[in-house]
Amino acid sequence: MGKYDLARMKSRFQTDGYVHLPGFFSPSQMDHLSGLITDHFGDAPEFEHDEAFIGGAKTEVVPWFPQREGVADFDAVQNNADFQAITEALIGKQFQSQYCMVMFSKAGTSGQAWHQDCPPEDETAFNLNRLVYTSAIQEEIGGQIAIMPGTHGKGAIPAGDPHEDLPGQIILSPKKGDLVLLHGHCWHRVLPIKSKCRFSTNFRAAPALAPEDITDVCVYRNMRYRFSTSEVLEVRV
Ligand SMILES: [Fe+2]
Repeated sequence: MGKYDLARMKSRFQTDGYVHLPGFFSPSQMDHLSGLITDHFGDAPEFEHDEAFIGGAKTEVVPWFPQREGVADFDAVQNNADFQAITEALIGKQFQSQYCMVMFSKAGTSGQAWHQDCPPEDETAFNLNRLVYTSAIQEEIGGQIAIMPGTHGKGAIPAGDPHEDLPGQIILSPKKGDLVLLHGHCWHRVLPIKSKCRFSTNFRAAPALAPEDITDVCVYRNMRYRFSTSEVLEVRV
């Protein structure tokens, strides 16, 4: 290691709920994965979520789980020694590498509304998003990630407008090869996608003792939603 100050990184993660590491992966590795992603999705993939979800959550993302289809090219990211050491520093030994999910959004779609990936009531039960940017997020295209620093310790995100600007939000436009590590309880969203398609790849992880289905229920400002049953658990007003 040596290249990364793990103690400092952990302290920043505990304070802010996220860490942004520019240029973590090489451009050639990212170009290879980008090529696979664009080959997979083509120009017009169909949304897999039902209308109730898209309308309620104001979220339009098409997921792809390449490892479940035997595409091994993404394993090198997951097995990267620095990547693993940083994950361990942030969420502890024997963490779970849950899955690799490419998140694709078409031009003209709404991005992802403010949310928490899992209910925050138990502070010890959370997921870690490890967001890898195989291509740059550009302000003119949209799809930047907005984060409310420090909110991973502040309970449920208040009910309200799914996409409004919140005072104190920070907006990241990661470049090719950047890594963003984000606590699942930390409030976040993806801004609307104005032109061209947009994708990022999430290598989700969780602490050793977290339930395997930790991200089944997502907390939005207007509802709690369970993915496994496509069910609105609570309407929030
Ligand atoms: Fe999320």
